Amino acid sequence: MKINKLHLLNYRSYQDQTFEFEDGLNLLIGKNAQGKTNVLEAIFFAVIGRSFRTGKEKEIIRWGENYGKIEAEFDNGYRKITIQIVLNSQHKKSVLVDGISLHKIGELLGRTNAVFFSPNELKLVKESPEDRRKFLNVAISQTNKRYFYLLGRYEKVLANRNKLLKCSENIDVVKETIDIWNRSLCEIAEKIFEERKKFVDELAPYAEKAHEYLSNGEEKLKVEYKSDFNENYGQNLMKYLQKNLEKDFKLGYTTAGIHRDDLNLYVNDVEVKNYGSQGQQRTVALSLKLAELECNKNRTGQYPILLLDDVFSELDEERRKRLLKFTQKTQTIITGTEITEKNNGKVIKIIKKS
Ligand SMILES: Nc1ncnc2c1ncn2[C@@H]1O[C@H](COP(=O)(O)OP(=O)(O)O)[C@@H](O)[C@H]1O
Ligand SMILES: [Mg+2]
Repeated sequence: MKINKLHLLNYRSYQDQTFEFEDGLNLLIGKNAQGKTNVLEAIFFAVIGRSFRTGKEKEIIRWGENYGKIEAEFDNGYRKITIQIVLNSQHKKSVLVDGISLHKIGELLGRTNAVFFSPNELKLVKESPEDRRKFLNVAISQTNKRYFYLLGRYEKVLANRNKLLKCSENIDVVKETIDIWNRSLCEIAEKIFEERKKFVDELAPYAEKAHEYLSNGEEKLKVEYKSDFNENYGQNLMKYLQKNLEKDFKLGYTTAGIHRDDLNLYVNDVEVKNYGSQGQQRTVALSLKLAELECNKNRTGQYPILLLDDVFSELDEERRKRLLKFTQKTQTIITGTEITEKNNGKVIKIIKKS
């Protein structure tokens, strides 16, 4: 998978600009706040249909304008695909593939593929389980539309169940109808769990290998899916929900399920979230992303585009060199403030026009 061209119109700092990319390594070089991350955000937006930076899409439209547009030309090895995202301050966004408007964002998934990494991704290791679930959800959805729709259905059922818990006057009212929601929730949860488990089982060996490679064999990573229910997820979750109805009613929300699961990450048998050094955490996050690259390739037959935001400043020279070797597999777009490594990549200078 590769991106040939990107045209931005009234998109963040860009009024009207076109970028052309080459097959291998592309370096976006510029000082701070010149618009480097904006370019990666736009590319990833064209791949997954939303921004990794904000949920408020109006923010993305160039200040003072009332619409903005991303137009990206990809090549999936068989043919070219043009994706347009049109953002309008009044209406919802529209997504067009080869000029034809999509009814649902989900329809965009799987047409192109990319893996995005930035120092911000450290939160994948350091912060709440929500960040790790988001990683799994975005990674799996990219090659599995069914999974994306299952997540949507789960969210709806969960919202209904929570509403019932929160708004009912007493627990007897809850008991009358909660069964319907319990059953749907468990049925969907089991399907989501199966996809996540399959993905993590595939991801873990790649992540462990990437981590070993980046740390020059000094560190051993372990990755596993964390949930209280595991095999027979649906049945086990049902038992929990029935047993804990009173607790859920008191709290006014559902205290277990797919929306509470997590990933366990250990380096040299120590939980990296609480005890890992900053450098280890960074390498773990990067290893997970590089592993995502491999899983994505197994599922689609080709490597996704690799988007690396500001990674060089965060890694020592040895890890930088090793990372660059890894990136030879696929088209890679890296942002940075200077060219730190000698390489044969295309250099695109990013300077903000005022
Ligand atoms: N909606 C917008 N309209 C105009 N400029 C914007 C908008 N959103 C962000 N910017 C500008 O984009 C710049 C930040 O771009 P960014 O890609 O994060 O820079 P960097 O090169 O450091 O990665 C800032 O100068 C900011 O003011
Ligand atoms: Mg940046």
